[in-house]
Amino acid sequence: MTDRELVDLAFTMLDRAYVPYSHFPVGAALACADGTVFTGCNVENAAYGSTLCAERTALVKAVSEGHRDDFVRLAVVGNSADYCWPCGACRQMLYEFAPNLTVLVARQDRQFVTLPLHELLPHGFGPRSLD
Ligand code: THU
Repeated sequence: MTDRELVDLAFTMLDRAYVPYSHFPVGAALACADGTVFTGCNVENAAYGSTLCAERTALVKAVSEGHRDDFVRLAVVGNSADYCWPCGACRQMLYEFAPNLTVLVARQDRQFVTLPLHELLPHGFGPRSLD
């Protein structure tokens, strides 16, 4: 799957987002080395802090299905004029498994920028930090 196709797949997830409070749908698609892709959307909650972001939805789907050390690319997309940058909690959760993950961040017009996760979370705290 090309980067463009991964971003477009993430856009299809905007329709699945459960966003009655923010009305801000986010879609994600996480690609593994073997070509498997896990999608996600944000799932909000009346107790606002219990909201799950699109990226973490995709990540926990992948980990719970047995993927862990093979994440290659993540697309995250929104309907906003600005790029839909991953929040801090998502950066941290992704860093645990894939500090070198390639992140594709898109905006409403479907343009996207590509950068490694370690640039989004420099000097991140990860499993090796506990050694
Ligand atoms: N959101 C995500 O899904 N991913 C992010 O990285 C940023 C924020 C969601 C959470 C909430 O449902 C909505 O966007 C507005 O913050």
